[in-house]
Amino acid sequence: MRWIKLGSDRFGKPVYFPETHSYNVIMVLARARYGKTILVKNLYTQISKHRPVVIFDYQGEHSESRYGNWLSRDQIAFIPDLHTISNFGFYLSDFDQMQDWISMGFSAKNAPLIMTFLKFDNIHHNNPLEFLELLVDLPTRDDEVDSFNKRYAEFGLFLHGRIHDSTKQSVVSMMNIVWQSGLLIPPVGSKDHATHFPSKIHVDDWGALLETYPHLNINLNIVTSNSIPLARASVGKILDRFLPYLKDLRGKAPLFVVEEADFICPNAMDAENITSLYQLRNYVLKHQRTGIEMMFVSQDPNLMDQFTLMGATIWIMGQHMKSSVTASTLNESDMDYHKDIIHQLKFDRYSNKRQFALMLSGNGGHYEIFEVDDTCTRDPLKHRFRK
Ligand SMILES: Nc1ncnc2c1ncn2[C@@H]1O[C@H](COP(=O)(O)OP(=O)(O)OP(=O)(O)O)[C@@H](O)[C@H]1O
Ligand SMILES: [Mg+2]
Repeated sequence: MRWIKLGSDRFGKPVYFPETHSYNVIMVLARARYGKTILVKNLYTQISKHRPVVIFDYQGEHSESRYGNWLSRDQIAFIPDLHTISNFGFYLSDFDQMQDWISMGFSAKNAPLIMTFLKFDNIHHNNPLEFLELLVDLPTRDDEVDSFNKRYAEFGLFLHGRIHDSTKQSVVSMMNIVWQSGLLIPPVGSKDHATHFPSKIHVDDWGALLETYPHLNINLNIVTSNSIPLARASVGKILDRFLPYLKDLRGKAPLFVVEEADFICPNAMDAENITSLYQLRNYVLKHQRTGIEMMFVSQDPNLMDQFTLMGATIWIMGQHMKSSVTASTLNESDMDYHKDIIHQLKFDRYSNKRQFALMLSGNGGHYEIFEVDDTCTRDPLKHRFRK
C-alpha cells in the first residue's frame, strides 16, 4: 500500500489517498469548476509511478500532464512518458455490433437496417462515403425497387420492397452527421481518406497500445454536445478492444481515468444500447480480477450510472448535488452525508480554497476533509523544465 498526499486538513496535517495496487473504483464528485480535474491530475500522475494510467480525455485537457504544470512549490508531478492519441477515426467494420450504431444515435428500429447493409462490404468497401451512397440509393417508391435491384444484384443485394420514406431520411441524415463528425474514416491509403481526413489515423489494435505505451491519454476531442453519442460509441469500442489484453496484464493492470463520466457512463435504462456504459459497468462490476483501477470524474452523481456508483470503493467529494445512491453506498441513512459532510466543505474561488472529503466505503462513515495544498498555475509551460 502506498500513500499519496492529496492535501492537508485544517490543522495542516496531510491527508493521504490509499493506493492499494489492487482493484479500486474511485469516484470524484464535485460541481462544475470545483477543481476536480486538477485534483485528479495530481492523483494519477503519482499513481503512474507504480501502475500504467489510461485516460479518457474529453476535450484534450490531459495531454499537458506530460509537463509539471499544476502543482506548485514542494511537488511537481507529471508523466513524462504519457502518450496522447488524438485525431483517430474508426472504420465501418469496427462497428460490427448493433449496439454500436444505437450508441451513435441511430434508432433501435433503424440500426438493424444499417447492420444489414454493412454486410455488403463488396459494395461499400469499408468506406463511409460509399456506404452513404448506398443508403441514398435506397428505393422509397415501388417503381424504384427494380432499378435498385438491377444495380446491386451482382453484389448479392436484393430488396423485396421499398424502404419507408422517413426511415431512409433518418438513416441518411444520421449517417451524414456521423460522417461529418469524423468518427468514421475511409480506409487509410484510399483516395477518400487522403481527400477528407488525411491526418486521421486508424488504430488497428487498441489493445497493443496498452503494451506499447507506458501511459496513454485518449483525446476524444468532444467539442459540442452533439458529439456525446459519438464519444459513447468510441469509448465503448475502445474498452471492448482492451478487454482481451487486460486479462494478460497481470501486475500491470492500468488505472483508467474517465473524465465527464456522466456523459460516457450516464444514468440510463438501456445500458446495452450505450456501449460505453455497458463496458464501463462491466469494468467496474465484473472485471475486478484483472486488477484494474477505475477513476470516474463527474459533476453530479444523479446523472451517472447508478450501478457504477454503487461499485465505488473510494470517494473524493467536493460540493455537489445530493444523491440517494451515493448516500446508500456510503452506508449513510437518507442524505445525512450531505448534511454532515458536504455542507461543511468550503469553496472560495478567490482565496483558492477548495475543500474535498475523502471517504472509503465500508469504513463506517469515517471521512477526512482536506484542501488541495497547491495553487495551480494556468500556464502549462511555466514549470515545464522544473523537476
Ligand atoms: N487547488 C487549486 N488551486 C487553485 N486553482 C485551482 C485549484 N483547483 C482548480 N483550480 C482552478 O479552478 C478552475 C477549475 O478547475 P478544474 O478544471 O480542475 O475544475 P473541474 O471541477 O474539473 O471543472 P469542470 O467541472 O469544468 O470539469 C481552473 O481554472 C483551475 O486552474
Ligand atoms: Mg474538469
